[in-house]
Amino acid sequence: HPSNFKEGGDVVLKREDCRAKGGAPGFKVAILGAAGGIGQPLALLMKINPLVSVLHLYDVVNSPGVTADVSHMDTGAVVRGFLGQPQLESALTGMDLVVIPAGVPRKPGMTRDDLFKINAGIVRTLCEGVAKSCPGAIVNLISNPVNSTVPIAAEVFKKAGIYDPKRLLGVTTLDVVRANTFVAEVLGVDPREVDVPVVGGHAGVTILPLLSQVKPPSSFSAEETEYLTNRIQNGGTEVVEAKAGAGSATLSMAYAAAKFANACLRGLKGEGGVVECAFVDSQVTELPFFATKVRLGRGGAEEIYQLGPLNEYERAGLEKAKRELAESIQKGINFIKK
Ligand code: NAI
Repeated sequence: HPSNFKEGGDVVLKREDCRAKGGAPGFKVAILGAAGGIGQPLALLMKINPLVSVLHLYDVVNSPGVTADVSHMDTGAVVRGFLGQPQLESALTGMDLVVIPAGVPRKPGMTRDDLFKINAGIVRTLCEGVAKSCPGAIVNLISNPVNSTVPIAAEVFKKAGIYDPKRLLGVTTLDVVRANTFVAEVLGVDPREVDVPVVGGHAGVTILPLLSQVKPPSSFSAEETEYLTNRIQNGGTEVVEAKAGAGSATLSMAYAAAKFANACLRGLKGEGGVVECAFVDSQVTELPFFATKVRLGRGGAEEIYQLGPLNEYERAGLEKAKRELAESIQKGINFIKK
C-alpha cells in the first residue's frame, strides 16, 4: 500500500518495540563520518553484523542518501541517519559503541601528521559530543593521525570529567590486517592462519610489527624481516600512491574497522578471550599511549598485554618508534591544553 511508504518512522518504532520485548539482543552503534570513503563500506558491514540492533549514520554531508541505501538491506539492524552538527546529539544518545572515521584522508606526498590541522578540530568536536550524549560508550577512533587524535580525545574526555582510558581505542587493526597478509604471502600460507602482533602507533616507523612473535612460529631471514617491516610500515602509502590523489585506504580499512568493532561488541557481550591490537592509554612503555595487544571485555580494553620478548632488530625499531610517538602524543595533548 502506497501509504506504507509514509509510515517508515512507525515501522522503525514497531521493530524497536519488538526488540524491547525480548527480540534479538544487540548493541547500538554510531558511525561518525558515515558518508565517507571508509564510512560507507563500514556502514554496510555494520548493517550485516548480527550483534548490532541499531545503527546511527552521522555525517556533515550525504548521510541521508547513505542511510536510505543501507537501510534497505534485509538484515536486523535498524538504520537511522543524522546530518550536520545540530543532529550530533540525537545521533549519539544511547550509543554503546561510537566509531569515528570522520576527517580528511592523505594524498600522495602527505604524511598522516599533515592531516593534523583539519582532523584535530573535527575529532575534538565529535568527542565533545560523545562526552555530552553517550559518555559511557566505547570509542573506536580511526581519524588520522591516530597517534595524536587519541591523545586529543583523551584530553577532551578528561576536561568533561568522563575519561575512562579503557573505553578509548585508537584503531590500528589495518596494520595487523596488512601484516597478516604480507607475512602469509612470504610464508606461502593462508592469511587466516597468521597472527602478527603490531605494536607502537599508527604512522610510519611507529608501526612496529613483531615478526619474532608471529603465530604460527616462523623464522625470517634478515632480508625478509627488512622487506616485511618496510612493507607493513608503508602499506598505507602504497594505497595512497596507487589511488593517485583519490584518497587513502577505504575498503581494507572498513574491513579492519568492522573486524575491530565486532571484537569490541563481543567483549561488551561478555565473551572471553577477545584480543586485538589497539592504540590505548598504556603503561607498557614510559609513553602515555601505546599500541599493544589488549583484551576486550564489558568495560572496553580490560587488560593490556606487555610487549613480550623482542629481538635486537625490534628493540632498535622500538626506540625509533618511541621517539616519533612521543612527539605526536604531545602535539595532540597540546592542541587541547594550550
Ligand atoms: P573521506 O574524505 O572519504 O571521508 C571522511 C568523511 O568525514 C566525509 O564524508 C566527511 O564529510 C566527514 N566529515 C568531515 N568532517 C566531519 C565532521 N565534523 N563530522 C562528521 N563527519 C565529518 O575520508 P576517508 O578515506 O573515509 O578517511 C577518513 C579518515 O580515516 C582520514 O582521517 C584517514 O586518514 C583515516 N584513516 C585511518 C586509517 C587507520 O588505520 N586508522 C586508515 C585509513 C584512513
